[in-house]
Amino acid sequence: MWYEGQSRATWWERGVIYQVYPRSFQDSDSDGVGDLAGIESRLDYLAELGIDAIWLSPIYPSPMADFGYDVADYCGIDSMFGDLAGFDRLLAAVHARGLKLLLDFVPNHSSDQHPWFIESRVSRDNPKRDWYIWREPAPDGGPPNNWISDFGGSSWEWDDTTSQYYLHAFLKSQPDLNWRNPNLRDAMMAVLRFWLDRGVDGFRIDVLWHIIKDADLPDNPINAAWTPGLTQRDRLIQLHSTDQPEAHAIAAEFRDLADSYGDRVLIGEICLPDDRLARWYGTMDRPQVHLPVNFHLVESAWNAASLKRMIADYEASLPSWGWPNWVHGSHDARRIAARVGEAQARVAAMLLLTLRGTPTLFQGDEIGIGEVTIPPDRVRDPQDLRQPGLGIGRDRSRTPIPWDASAYAGFSSVDPWLPLNDDWRVRNVATQLRDSSSLLSLYRSLLALRRSHHALSIGDFTLIDSAHDVLAYVRRHSGECLLIAMNLSDQTQPLSLSQSLTQSLPKDSRRVEVLSSTLLPSTVVPSTLLHRPLDEPLAPNEGLVLRLKEIH
Ligand code: NOJ
Repeated sequence: MWYEGQSRATWWERGVIYQVYPRSFQDSDSDGVGDLAGIESRLDYLAELGIDAIWLSPIYPSPMADFGYDVADYCGIDSMFGDLAGFDRLLAAVHARGLKLLLDFVPNHSSDQHPWFIESRVSRDNPKRDWYIWREPAPDGGPPNNWISDFGGSSWEWDDTTSQYYLHAFLKSQPDLNWRNPNLRDAMMAVLRFWLDRGVDGFRIDVLWHIIKDADLPDNPINAAWTPGLTQRDRLIQLHSTDQPEAHAIAAEFRDLADSYGDRVLIGEICLPDDRLARWYGTMDRPQVHLPVNFHLVESAWNAASLKRMIADYEASLPSWGWPNWVHGSHDARRIAARVGEAQARVAAMLLLTLRGTPTLFQGDEIGIGEVTIPPDRVRDPQDLRQPGLGIGRDRSRTPIPWDASAYAGFSSVDPWLPLNDDWRVRNVATQLRDSSSLLSLYRSLLALRRSHHALSIGDFTLIDSAHDVLAYVRRHSGECLLIAMNLSDQTQPLSLSQSLTQSLPKDSRRVEVLSSTLLPSTVVPSTLLHRPLDEPLAPNEGLVLRLKEIH
């Protein structure tokens, strides 16, 4: 279903990924939790939105201590979500619409209810013992080292039955798997094959940089920059517990397998600075993941100078064979609209969909769900419950999609597992679909624009000098040249472009065509031929995609 005159780019380079958090997308069986049949019933919405691939957060059998990131069977479907037949139906329905489906693969840890762990903890000589990381206590009887779990507290849990500790980077009910054990490795590769054989188009790989630890398990160094406002995990630098050299060989093995199935994609969840992130592309001869996730838009301060520096550094860090990617929201991060405000959420939409690289859009961000009130008695996130008061709760990004203004927002026929966004009666999909000025209409028009202009999806990228709080860059492909200019402030800003750019334009092209504007309804652009002088200042919060003519 792609462009005429297909370019060399693959679907995952050209396309846009949409993250579905299945518990909160659509409930079809009135238990207040979303499910696969619910997702299937909303596929037309996604196809019409204009995305290309869907990534599903975990749907496997799970006690749900970490809402599915605690897997009790890697090759099944939790009955809360449906069953394997329902999964096959969903996959076929996704493919029938020309879309792709990605699953979440969670290799670092399983649930403590996984049969492998149940066996592993039975005795020290159980064949599955070494599938997890068991150790003797330290000489004082305490944990084997100082590692701290990402959810707070020691990373080690004492097990009375066999009088040893086991390692868990997250909850104690999420024991870490031992990727140094060849049988565990084989079993996990078989899991990937199980889903690839079923036809899934790839995986998002959970906390890939955690997958293997220093074999000697030394203490991690103390983080001198730690302050009490930070999480317990941040007390240490995760030098020996993450990003080990051996992890790259595992990523390369995953890639070999994915490539043997053809056009599949691997997206590695990796939170590291640029230089170390770039290593996860591997080398040209021995590639690793296709897309090591770039979280910089989630982390960067929201002003033109910081964004410009961050984008330049990220672009400069990429190897020639590495394709970039961008994300500004997820089920773990604070909502982008809560972070930057309603007006800038429109600029964020333009930024995400016009930067060079594959964007991932998180469900609900397309309608601008902002801060959501989670009453204390409804907090479900284990990370928040274990470290309250730090403002790190993830429930606020996981609330159900408000589809319309009917009871329970059309998400369910009963009270959902998490509250709806406070403003769901006005901020919902149906209302925004009817309103050509809504954020959803802007997303739809930007996605359509991206699809029809190769310059936006696969074109070259050049940041250009721009004054004040303006972020501007040029995207070029096959003779087309687009200028994207965004005002990151709520003040009018001059669009003072560098002379080198304006000089390269013929005099008569100083009035340029407007292809998209964050301030105009989608019924006005791009359907009407709108022009504006190139030197006209940007209105507060204005973002523009402009078509330039170039002298060749
Ligand atoms: C990263 C996931 O995105 C997050 O939701 C989860 O809690 C941890 N990995 C542990 O699996």
